[in-house]
Amino acid sequence: MTAHAHKKLYIKTWGCQMNSYDSYRMIDILTPLGYKISDNPEDADMIILNTCHIREKATDKVFSDLGRLRPLKERKEEAGGKMLIAVAGCVAQAEGDLILKRAPYVDLVFGPQTYHELPEMIINASKKRIVNTEFPIESKFDLLPNENTNQGVSAFVSIQEGCDRFCTFCVVPYTRGSEYSRNVNDIIEESKKLVDQGAIEITLLGQNVNAFHGDGLNGKAWGLGKLIQEVSKIEGLERIRYTTSHPRDMDDELIETHSLEKLMPFLHLPVQSGSDKILKAMNRKHTRDLYFETIKKLRKVRANLAFSSDFIIGFPGETDKDFEDTMDMVRQVEFASCYSFKFSARPGTPAANIQNIVHESIATERLMRLQKLINEQQRNFNTKSIGLTLPVLFDRKGKKSGQIVGRSPFNQSVYVNGNEQLINNLVNVKITEGFDNSLTGEIIVK
Ligand code: SAH
Ligand code: SF4
Ligand code: F3S
Repeated sequence: MTAHAHKKLYIKTWGCQMNSYDSYRMIDILTPLGYKISDNPEDADMIILNTCHIREKATDKVFSDLGRLRPLKERKEEAGGKMLIAVAGCVAQAEGDLILKRAPYVDLVFGPQTYHELPEMIINASKKRIVNTEFPIESKFDLLPNENTNQGVSAFVSIQEGCDRFCTFCVVPYTRGSEYSRNVNDIIEESKKLVDQGAIEITLLGQNVNAFHGDGLNGKAWGLGKLIQEVSKIEGLERIRYTTSHPRDMDDELIETHSLEKLMPFLHLPVQSGSDKILKAMNRKHTRDLYFETIKKLRKVRANLAFSSDFIIGFPGETDKDFEDTMDMVRQVEFASCYSFKFSARPGTPAANIQNIVHESIATERLMRLQKLINEQQRNFNTKSIGLTLPVLFDRKGKKSGQIVGRSPFNQSVYVNGNEQLINNLVNVKITEGFDNSLTGEIIVK
């Protein structure tokens, strides 16, 4: 190896979009140290698994992946090389030392709030294994490099982290820590850089993004609505999205901001359940009616606003009646898409101790019924797009040759036959077919 040879870095990312953002920022930190991203773990110099702790399944996957990486590391070391294996993200934060016990070949364990210390951690890892799951007083955002990895045509910017809501089922307040908002100036600067690098769409991220209350340009605290209005002034930026919101934190200014053209007419607003009793047991701090009310207000400002949500099925104590309330809510709102999960008891969260467990087979049956309804609604929503002309932001090639894929304003995946040169552009597409999870269409030739 010459002194200038770069080191191979492989990162695998699970979980929410904030983890994707964090992975980009880890690249920003490691690039000056000579690391270059690779899409293959084999003979990598450093492997980072950026993990998710939200449900038990997500966590299990990490350990099965580690098991597969072990022989790669052994092989490299037998040949006289070195491979650092790091576990980052929310499993790292939650499990800490336990990861080293279960997988002693792991070199580094660090949480979402300490990855800015990576250069130091890498040096120390040559002497001993590192576990770094502090919540430092300083914010990583003030210490991360000013350079941004090019995220392409659609980019993420974390604006808020952590959560103070403590829903009883959720690990996020423990893995990400308490709520923190970045200041508006930094967010604007970072967004401008991403737009200069080619971003046309920016998604503002936070675990509870509409709790945002960062220092504004006038020195006063700004809410998310004001921030979006400021971001929308960036020239060359055509599309803004934000995720994930809590229904209780949809204030009037944010609702009004949905009249902005650049703010896309699609909102992910997780409700979790349609039963007031279950919402209470979840500590969601909102009722079913507040959710309906909020949707109504939003639709008044933007008539074509499409919604998506998350649901947890089989929360302890959920009766048939509670479940029917959820089904009823879905019917009333008519979602464009939804995610639904069976309740997963997470160690350390209050809901893990609630008795009244819903039998697995009942939860499975309910989940299947809900997913059938959701699929119908998705298909309805998608077939309603047939005949419309929608601007599509193309960001990748499809699986079939000659096919390119992009997103509609409503976040639908749109597949067309088209020239690869259209990738990274906003192009008008006439929609010809609608399915459960996608649309097909034809490029409108000007
Ligand atoms: N911050 C977001 C949610 C983050 S987690 C919010 O407030 O809505 C993403 C989704 O995972 C949640 O909306 C919830 O539906 C699901 N989820 C979280 N904890 C879960 C658990 N213990 N079991 C099953 N699903 C869970
Ligand atoms: Fe978790 Fe979201 Fe509830 Fe916060 S608001 S505790 S992130 S589900
Ligand atoms: Fe998962 Fe952590 Fe995001 S638990 S959903 S990666 S905040």
